[in-house]
Amino acid sequence: MAKGGREHFGSRSAAVMAMAGSAIGLGNIWRFPYMVGQNGGAAFIIIYLLAAFFLSLPILLSESIIGRATHANTFGAMEKLSPGTRWKWLGILTVVSPLIILSYYSVVGGWSIEYLLKASGSGFGDDISTLFGEFIVQPWAPLICHTLFLLLTAGVVSAGVKSGIERFNRISLPVLFVLIVIIMIYALTLPGSGEGVRYMLKPDFSKITPSVVASAMGQSFFSLSLGVGTILTYSSYMKREENLFRSGVGTAVFDLLFALIAGFAIMPAVFAAGIQPGAGPGLIFETLPYIFAKMGVAAPWLSRGVSILFFLTIVIAALTSSISMCEVGVAYVVEERGMSRGKATVLIFGATWLLGALCSLSFGPLSGVKILGKTIFDFCDTLTSDYLMTFGSLLFVLFVGWKMKRETVWNEFTNGGSLRGSVRVFRAVYFLIRYVAPLVILTIFVTNLLA
Ligand code: TRP
Repeated sequence: MAKGGREHFGSRSAAVMAMAGSAIGLGNIWRFPYMVGQNGGAAFIIIYLLAAFFLSLPILLSESIIGRATHANTFGAMEKLSPGTRWKWLGILTVVSPLIILSYYSVVGGWSIEYLLKASGSGFGDDISTLFGEFIVQPWAPLICHTLFLLLTAGVVSAGVKSGIERFNRISLPVLFVLIVIIMIYALTLPGSGEGVRYMLKPDFSKITPSVVASAMGQSFFSLSLGVGTILTYSSYMKREENLFRSGVGTAVFDLLFALIAGFAIMPAVFAAGIQPGAGPGLIFETLPYIFAKMGVAAPWLSRGVSILFFLTIVIAALTSSISMCEVGVAYVVEERGMSRGKATVLIFGATWLLGALCSLSFGPLSGVKILGKTIFDFCDTLTSDYLMTFGSLLFVLFVGWKMKRETVWNEFTNGGSLRGSVRVFRAVYFLIRYVAPLVILTIFVTNLLA
């Protein structure tokens, strides 16, 4: 059972900042801009908007409803709402999934630390094209950076919900927006940047196929950190009088805004340098250092300044996400196993460090080790992004839509009828949770399974 004396976020804005901090991360910076350009520009953005508000928001609200109704960790929440049933497995699943994500996410977080250090120290050297490939296959350096990133994460989490997580997000979120806007302004002033803006905006509806729609939805899940109990856990720290609907909408809007600004920061720079945008981490770790170096010839101090700001943005954005993943596990261990927060953090740190180390080494010494044909890193990534997040989301909406009493859901969503706006939208949201979300998620899940 959950113990008494649980902490709460100090205000609604603190809760929104924490949830937005979880949502805003590497997914916004490298995955979103690239997907937009590849999949029909403005046409994709429209699909993404629809997916974010009609599919992801109901899932997010489902997690919020469970979290705040119980004021407990994911496992405790299931035990409270449906004691002694198989729903406890959903609680267990959502303790484990974020820890798997944290393991490989912190490897990438470690790479960004390395690049931040490089940008502020010796620079990226002459041979940028091979730098990334050579770095990640090394055994030690990436491992040390992974350790450092995880230590920073655990450090914030161990300081507590209010003085650790809330405080860190309250400072980081505004800083992130300021940084990304500075980078965007800079990128938009580069000669040749117009091409990048067109890449992001040119609507091409012919590119919208069923699989593009499915990947827009998948991206929206990933970006909002759904299906793995992070939103549930953060919502469990929200006070009774807070407005779940408004907080959820706020989180989705911040996340979307950040993704769009990141797109207008990255793509114009990419096109100004005259290169084709590539997918995935390559965009951040190969393309951008190259661009910074190219600019460096004309204005060395400016290029160095911008590259430091850019990698700082990535490190902070990744940290606000990794902290939320870590908290899910820590809350579980503290409340269900009765451990102190400090000890619980050490335990979670140890477990994720180990799996993360295997992920890190899977680029070099362990590259021969394959699980179902994938390296350890890729396996953890696919398992969580393609399966566990969708599966968890499905179970959350089914639980709120079909297992919980409608009255309980209504009470939680409208604060006992006192929130007029929420009363008005309740029926629509409930319909989306009950019928639309499960069917759509099931379709995505089966598509992933068959792919
Ligand atoms: N939303 C994060 C990002 O955009 C990544 C993420 C995926 C995540 N699943 C999560 C974060 C679960 C926290 C918890 O980078």
